[in-house]
Amino acid sequence: MIKNEFMNWFDFSGKSVVITGGAGLLGREICLTLAKCGANISILDRVENLPMTLADQFVSLDCEVLYLQSDVLDKAILERNKKDIISRWGKIDILINAAGGNHPKATTNPEHRFFDLPQEALQITFDLNLMGTILPSQVFGAVMAEQGEGSILNISSMNAFRPLTRIPAYSAAKAGVSNFTQWLAVHMAQEYSPKIRVNAIAPGFFLTDQNRFLLTEKETGELTTRGKAILNHTPMGRFGNPGDLTGTILWLLSPASEFVTGIVVPVDGGFSAFSGV
Ligand SMILES: NC(=O)c1ccc[n+]([C@@H]2O[C@H](COP(=O)([O-])OP(=O)(O)OC[C@H]3O[C@@H](n4cnc5c(N)ncnc54)[C@H](O)[C@@H]3O)[C@@H](O)[C@H]2O)c1
Repeated sequence: MIKNEFMNWFDFSGKSVVITGGAGLLGREICLTLAKCGANISILDRVENLPMTLADQFVSLDCEVLYLQSDVLDKAILERNKKDIISRWGKIDILINAAGGNHPKATTNPEHRFFDLPQEALQITFDLNLMGTILPSQVFGAVMAEQGEGSILNISSMNAFRPLTRIPAYSAAKAGVSNFTQWLAVHMAQEYSPKIRVNAIAPGFFLTDQNRFLLTEKETGELTTRGKAILNHTPMGRFGNPGDLTGTILWLLSPASEFVTGIVVPVDGGFSAFSGV
């Protein structure tokens, strides 16, 4: 039946999925989605244990999950993680690089001029987002090169297209993530296998612990000036919910996008399309 043929695209049974930052807000939604589609999930995050709320959700789905404490900036740890994943699931089909974020001290404001932002905060932000995507792609991408197939999904940002005010290192690093996505897509297809695809999503604005108090007032929950500016610039007029990423991610990781590699897909309620007029 034709219908079943297309539905099978989204059956991830037996697929081994590695996700960095999988304990975070967007990462957990992504790994739960893929677990519901039958995938075997390995979560790598720097927190010591898988948060109980997330662990409980896996139990209620009757899904096994491998949790490994990790650091996307430490290749030796990633190599150890790789051994554990291979011994548990035997292969790696999908890598999702979801660890990332901005360091609060790498943000300009009236008290912290660009000129005075501490080098350490800038470096942490730059490294986490860019090196934190490159290093796991080296370690787990090597498995895909050996297998001759696989799929890597990076998380870029609206900042990659045009930088937002106040967050210079994050914006530059995410521009790097988009550029690296294109580079690695070409490299994998030409040097290893056209069956290794590399793509990215660029989420618009999702309320998370990292940006909540940039976008809403701590005391009242009202929108800040920045929050209002973002919504005014989002034709759909709302912040994203983690579930808004689901369809795009399933498409990019499934055979439905078999001939697609090296793209960055905005999931942004129209933010990147709107000129402001
Ligand atoms: N939330 C948004 O609006 C938004 C928009 C665009 C892009 N993004 C990007 O999406 C990704 C996920 O964001 P989120 O909102 O879920 O953030 P989050 O802070 O909820 O999750 C990030 C996760 O990464 C983990 N992490 C941090 N440093 C790590 C390290 N060195 N090694 C391993 N794990 C580490 C954290 O422990 C956390 O669980 C990030 O790359 C972020 O930049 C988010």
